[in-house]
Parts: sequence; C-alpha cells; structure tokens
Amino acid sequence: MKLVKLIANLGYGSRKDVSQMFRAGRITDPDGEVLYADDVVPHESIRIDDEPLDPAAGLILMLNKPLAVTCSRKDPGRVVYDLLPPRYNVRTPVLSSVGRLDRDTTGLLLFTDDGALLHRIISPKAQVSKVYEATLAQDLRGDEAELFASGTLLLESEKEPLAPAILEVLGPRHALLTVTEGRYHQVRRMFGATGNHVETLQRIAVGGLTLGELPLGEWRVLNTDEISLIFSGNP
Ligand code: URA
Repeated sequence: MKLVKLIANLGYGSRKDVSQMFRAGRITDPDGEVLYADDVVPHESIRIDDEPLDPAAGLILMLNKPLAVTCSRKDPGRVVYDLLPPRYNVRTPVLSSVGRLDRDTTGLLLFTDDGALLHRIISPKAQVSKVYEATLAQDLRGDEAELFASGTLLLESEKEPLAPAILEVLGPRHALLTVTEGRYHQVRRMFGATGNHVETLQRIAVGGLTLGELPLGEWRVLNTDEISLIFSGNP
C-alpha cells in the first residue's frame, strides 16, 4: 500500500493532510532522514514527528473498562472509544469492541479492526469462555451451580436454553461465572433467574487471557502470544 494511504488509514489525516506532512518533512525514518511519499519502508521504520507510527491494521487491544462508560459510538455520555487515542476512532478498517459490556460492568474488553478475528472470538461455535466475577445482593441459595451447568436454564423471552456455564462460589455473595455465550445482560439475567441481583460485575478473563496488572481505564495492544491465549481455554 502507498505510504500516503497507509498513514491516512491510520487516522493521521486525509490523504491531502498526509501529503502535506510529507512535504513538511515530518515523516522520517528512525535516523531522522526525511521520507517521501513513494518510498518503500517497513511499517516499524516510519516516524511521524519522531514518534513511531501507530500499529498496522490487524490491531487487537484490551481495555480495562471502568464503570459508567458505554460500549457504543452513539451514546451522548462517555463511551469506551473515548478512552482510546482519538486517532484510533478514525482508522480504516474501523476498530470495534469485541462484543459489549454493560455500562455498569467493568473489566476486560477487547477491540480489533480484524473482522475475521472478531467473528472468531464472538462466534458461539468458537466456545471462547468469558469469566465474570460477581458480587450479589443476597446469599447464594446453593443450587445455582447445578442449574447453570444444566444447559436447561431458559432466560425470560428467549427460545433457546443457555449453554452450560460453570459457577465457582467464592463466598456467600461472591462468585465466578464462566460462560461461553454472550447473550444480552446474560450474567445479570442468570442470577436474576435465581431470585438474586448482581451488585458488581467484572469480566476478568476471555479464554486464557486475563487483565493482569492493567489498571482500570487503561488499554494496551496485545502481542501474538496473548492473542493465542484468547483461544486457549481458561486462564
Ligand atoms: N453479562 C452481563 O450481564 N453484563 C455484561 O456486561 C456482560 C455479561
């Protein structure tokens, strides 16, 4: 791909803007040598104003989503995309969240511009597990693990029962729940079906990938080993 198009696609500006950046000598190699629009240079050797170029298409990153931000582009309030660099919101191909977390759910949220990868992660066939840590308004009854594992739990207004899910009780009102589907408000509705109410909900893992030490509200790009972890079962 031509350099002007490549850089414009990364959100640095229109092709006209990027052509002007070349002319102004702002686009260089790591030694500060000015590059020209028809040069052929590896992605990692391009600098803009001495800064490395943003990652190429095929990007996947994770965010530790805080409370009170929405997984939407249109919501008038704070949205998850506001937590990424503004340039990431105007990239081509478009960077999207991989599924959604509720406004009041925190934790691991992936983003990618790779449609095939996104589909591979969210497809029910792929059986990528998602682990949620929940605190509850009331004590667990004791039969939840069996019910969630049964594969027979039918949520209100749904036609298909939920696939089996694993509940690990950590305390009377504290549990980990591992699911392989991504139905609307699934975890809250599952506990709701047992007469309980989720007070706090955090996603702590997707497949074998965990949040690690990533602080709330921060994001980082995943490397290829971490991408493989997503498909490698539970943490
Ligand atoms: N289940 C929910 O209820 N909410 C989420 O955000 C994710 C899963």
